Amino acid sequence: MNIVIYGCGENGCQAYHCLRHDSNVTMIGFLDGNPKTKGTEYLGLPVLGDFDEIARLRRDAGLRGAIAAVGDNVARARINTRLRHEGLQIVRAIHPQVMIESPKSIGEGVILEMGAAVHALAEVGEGCFMGTATIMAHHCKAGRYTTLSGGVSTGGGVTVGSFTLIGVGANIHPHRNVGSNVIVGVGASVIKDVPDNCVVAGVPARHLRTLAALDLTGVK
Ligand SMILES: CC(C)(COP(=O)(O)OP(=O)(O)OC[C@H]1O[C@@H](n2cnc3c(N)ncnc32)[C@H](O)[C@@H]1OP(=O)(O)O)[C@@H](O)C(=O)NCCC(=O)NCCS
Repeated sequence: MNIVIYGCGENGCQAYHCLRHDSNVTMIGFLDGNPKTKGTEYLGLPVLGDFDEIARLRRDAGLRGAIAAVGDNVARARINTRLRHEGLQIVRAIHPQVMIESPKSIGEGVILEMGAAVHALAEVGEGCFMGTATIMAHHCKAGRYTTLSGGVSTGGGVTVGSFTLIGVGANIHPHRNVGSNVIVGVGASVIKDVPDNCVVAGVPARHLRTLAALDLTGVK
């Protein structure tokens, strides 16, 4: 299937290096919201423009699939919503060296970097990002468009809500719940449940501040 990656930044680079091993897809280029990138190359592929190019690419280049690859969780959700609306199938970018053992589900649009691990009965929600050496233990659940940065480690039975960012190297005590729209700081150790809409950090993790509720306009 011919696909494009939306986003020619760091996240797009990570998605590219997962998808380049996938014999089921052919990457025909990148899309990007920055008009200055149109007509340039990224990682040896053409940057083809923005959403308004999709109809032409479907007609002339057999484009059928895509994936949003930007770091901001809500932006990633908005982009995948729009790509779907334009008639494209949202693909998964899963590096062949991800370890996956009998998960319950892995949603569309996930980006799972080299060396991530998904254990038995885990649920990885749509559009989640998992970095290298991130462990999602058995019976864990991550909601939609949540980022588990590199080196994050969860005990068994942890749930994480949607649109949450777990910072690099943080770990979460087994069977704890982290809410939606949460930021967990780099290196934190979460030993208590964390409510929605806040920032926590430190060892053990403590409340730093409250976040405004997310604006999910344009997200389906
Ligand atoms: C937690 C975090 C969101 C706080 O950022 P911030 O709101 O800009 O906070 P500040 O840097 O102003 O720091 C506020 C306080 O929290 C402390 N703090 C910040 N990050 C911390 C961390 N990771 N662990 C412990 N304390 C931390 C600061 O020392 C400061 O303390 P002080 O008020 O006593 O001086 C940020 O440091 C972080 O860890 N982001 C995650 C980054 C990440 O992993 N991205 C993913 C890449 S894939």
